[in-house]
Amino acid sequence: MTFAAITGVGAYVPERVVTNDDMATMVETSDEWIRSRTGIRERRIASADEASSDLGARAAQAALEDAGLAPNDIDLLVVGTSSPDMVMPSTACLLQTKVGLTCPAFDVMAACTSFVYALQAAASAIEAGRARRVLVVGADALTRLVDFTDRRTCVLFGDGAGAFVLEASEEAGVLGIDLGADGSRPEVLRIPAGGSAMPASHETVDAGLHFVQMNGQEVFKFAVRAIPATTKRALAASNMTIDDLTWLVPHQANQRILDTVADRLHLAHDRVFSNIESLGNTSAASIPLAVSDLYTSGSLHRGDVLGLVGFGAGLTWGAAIVRWTKEDD
Ligand code: ACO
Repeated sequence: MTFAAITGVGAYVPERVVTNDDMATMVETSDEWIRSRTGIRERRIASADEASSDLGARAAQAALEDAGLAPNDIDLLVVGTSSPDMVMPSTACLLQTKVGLTCPAFDVMAACTSFVYALQAAASAIEAGRARRVLVVGADALTRLVDFTDRRTCVLFGDGAGAFVLEASEEAGVLGIDLGADGSRPEVLRIPAGGSAMPASHETVDAGLHFVQMNGQEVFKFAVRAIPATTKRALAASNMTIDDLTWLVPHQANQRILDTVADRLHLAHDRVFSNIESLGNTSAASIPLAVSDLYTSGSLHRGDVLGLVGFGAGLTWGAAIVRWTKEDD
């Protein structure tokens, strides 16, 4: 059987750092409130000339370099995002040309679960023999879509991108994947206007309907149920248990969510990776950014098992169990 294995990892975050104290100059909030409720200390914000495809292109180039591949070697590009550059064409097409790729390219939109969905699409294409080298990118500039006068949402998000190169391998890298969706509660987390249901108009702009709307407490309750459940299902599909995990790498939405999940899974808190303090919630980018941090800090070793877990608007959720097959340096 042909498996998919991670052979390259790349990341990119914008230069501009915005601290909680900076946020407190924009809305009525404080470093103490934000840190105690979310764990976030600062976030990166894209410059005016950087859209999601620009962030993603930088991460993709870094992943190609890490894998030792050229753009021509890639035969499929899958981009997960919830802040596309524009309604059409896809962010994947815009990113494709920036990186010099010539392969088919498409977007996956499953909000903060987009990267896990994209990984499933990429791994399936390799396992089915339809592609041998796939670039999977998670890229979001969600700060473009939040209202910087709404303290309930604007303090949470940051911008960034991460990317994996997946290659066909005799060794199993991507193991079991569990995905789920429940479209019955879109109001929990959404951007109502700007699509075909509520096209852009003066009225929608005046009412701020192009910004993220979130019921924070409902998201919290959903996340702390969904993450353990999907992780357990993906582990079962991989013939593994929680004890086999070296690292749980959840979507970085909120430190309190991560701590609650660790307790519910009876996992030591230091096995649940977190970099939310310095990056905030980067949506589809948060999982590959987290893996990149683990990788570049020397915390990943051949044979380690990772649980990559996403959850977000839709509602959507998903977990991928991955064995780290890259050689240690
Ligand atoms: N600074 C100061 N006060 C604030 C802020 C802020 N940034 N934001 C909200 N408040 C105030 C509210 O106005 C409210 O004040 P009031 O009682 O006078 O009306 C008070 O704090 C409590 O508001 P709640 O919304 O009940 O605050 P809560 O304790 O639920 O914390 C939070 C909000 C942090 C968003 C929490 O609900 C949470 O962690 N939810 C998870 C949501 C999440 O992580 N979303 C990430 C994006 S979604 C995703 O990635 C899948």
